[in-house]
Amino acid sequence: MDVRKSLCGIGAIPDGGAVAVHVDSSTGGFDLILVRVGDAVAAFHNECPHAGRRLDYAPGKFLIDNGTLICAAHGAVFGLESGHCLGGPCRGAGLRSVHVDVVDGQVCLP
Ligand code: FES
Repeated sequence: MDVRKSLCGIGAIPDGGAVAVHVDSSTGGFDLILVRVGDAVAAFHNECPHAGRRLDYAPGKFLIDNGTLICAAHGAVFGLESGHCLGGPCRGAGLRSVHVDVVDGQVCLP
């Protein structure tokens, strides 16, 4: 029996875009950004390394431009697929990635 936790269907993430999901846990859970480029999905904690704010400007709405994800709080720029800091106040600190797999069209935690 596969006990992976599905976060959402890959079709719920626009190609070249991102969505926000909350992962429940006994300690309150955490929030992730799911980024999709083609059939590949990357996941990052929705917490900016600059000042710890969420990156979305409204729940689940992200500033994405030319392969970058821009923090809505103060404009730090991250690689959309890598999460690496590319500019702005993140000063080299990238987003914390989380491993996810796509299984039968579902984005899952291991
Ligand atoms: S909290 Fe993201 S740039 Fe400041």
